[in-house]
Amino acid sequence: MAREVTHEENGPAKLDESDMGDDGMIYVCQCGLSDSKPLCDGSHNATADEEDGVIYKYVNDDADGERREIGELDEADE
Ligand code: FES
Repeated sequence: MAREVTHEENGPAKLDESDMGDDGMIYVCQCGLSDSKPLCDGSHNATADEEDGVIYKYVNDDADGERREIGELDEADE
């Protein structure tokens, strides 16, 4: 599983205590689909059924939007 996302920011995000969840942890989005980057907003759930070896693109990087297959990973990339 993999996906292509478009990032428009060009600098770091500063996190502080206000970014902590109720459990005292800060969850950073690694799937690229969060509307609250750099924080996870649960959008990664849309990736649960992605197949290994396939590259996906979500329209407008929206987890609720259409998902297309745009390629395959080479074995060397996995
Ligand atoms: S890891 Fe990206 S929204 Fe949770």
